This record gives sequence, C-alpha cells and structure tokens, in this order.
Amino acid sequence: MADFLTVPLSPKHRKSEFTCGNAYLDNYIQKQAKQDMKRKLSVCFVMSNDKNEIKGFYTLSNAGIPKEAVPEKIRKKLPRAYESLPVTLLGRLAINKKNKGKGLGKLLLIDALKRGLEVSKVIGSMAVIVDPIDENAVQFYDRFGFILLPDSGKMFLPMKTIEQLFK
Ligand SMILES: CC(C)(COP(=O)(O)OP(=O)(O)OC[C@H]1O[C@@H](n2cnc3c(N)ncnc32)[C@H](O)[C@@H]1OP(=O)(O)O)[C@@H](O)C(=O)NCCC(=O)NCCS
Repeated sequence: MADFLTVPLSPKHRKSEFTCGNAYLDNYIQKQAKQDMKRKLSVCFVMSNDKNEIKGFYTLSNAGIPKEAVPEKIRKKLPRAYESLPVTLLGRLAINKKNKGKGLGKLLLIDALKRGLEVSKVIGSMAVIVDPIDENAVQFYDRFGFILLPDSGKMFLPMKTIEQLFK
C-alpha cells in the first residue's frame, strides 16, 4: 500500500478553524463533510499538523460520466457497451489560507491522484475528474494536465496518465 500525506477526517481535527477564503468550501468541511462520510457519499481526507490544525483537505467519491462527455480520442477506443464510464470524483480541494502558495495544493492533489490510482486497482475507474469551483480553480487544475469537459464544466485526467506519473 502506498504512503499518503492525509488521513480521513476525524473528531480530533480542528475543522471549525479551517478557512481557505472560499465560504462554500469552509462551510463544507465545518458542517457537511462528517455527515457525507457517515452516509458514505464521500470521504474527506485531511493534512494536519501535530496540533491537529487542518492545513488542507480533499474529498473523493465514486462517480460516473456519460461516454459522450469524454474527449473523442479516448471515447473511440472504448467498447460500445459502456454508456456511463466509471471515474473517481475529486469533489473538493482546499488549502488553509495561511498555508497557501507553499506547494501544499500540489502535494494534496498528488496525494488524491495516488489514492485514485490505488482505488482503480480494485474497482474500475478510468479517470479522476474534478469539479472546479471557479475560474481560478480551472487554471490550477489546467496546470496539472486536467482537460475541461465542455458541457459539465468538470475536468478530466485519464487514469492511464496518472499511472504513468507514478511509474
Ligand atoms: C487552489 C489552491 C488549492 C492552491 O493551493 P496552493 O497550496 O496555494 O497551491 P501550490 O502552492 O501548491 O501551487 C501549485 C501550483 O499551482 C499554481 N497555482 C496555485 N494557485 C493557483 C490558482 N489559483 N490558479 C492557477 N494556478 C495556481 C502555483 O503557481 C503552482 O505552480 P508551480 O508548481 O508551477 O509553481 C488554494 O489556493 C485554495 O485552497 N483555493 C481555494 C479553494 C479552491 O479554489 N480549490 C480548488 C477547487 S475546488
């Protein structure tokens, strides 16, 4: 099993102090993440320090996207039978304001991709997709090779590409 920088969110983590500058994401970790985990809708992974302050977090879930949504180059290689494609959704990713610009966002993204790759070894998943919260987030993910899917506004990184990254 690979080593990770994050652990699942637990009661010891000081989530009420977390602030990344985006109210929706702050509210999510403070009020919603625990519930979502309880209901098995997503898992929230956190990077914290020895005082249990959260430096950053992300969430992962299973998801599906319609075959028509993926770029033609990839789609034409897929068998017809698959109408909905299994993917891993990196739903949210945020870094605490005081830790921004130190490379932690990149580290957290790599950690999430690594988890996605591990999952794909036991449950089929052909890409990691993200749901960028705004134009800044689109630019952030664009730097790492994510492709914007035209209709949904989601972005897509093939698992094969991720596999190459960790070789
Ligand atoms: C976007 C965010 C996760 C970046 O975290 P960070 O720790 O500041 O980023 P890093 O220091 O790891 O930067 C990694 C790279 O991305 C670039 N980058 C950082 N923020 C960026 C942004 N908003 N737009 C474009 N590029 C960005 C950096 O310049 C750096 O590039 P380099 O590797 O070529 O030097 C963080 O600013 C954040 O939490 N924002 C609010 C929530 C959000 O937008 N989440 C993402 C989508 S849900």
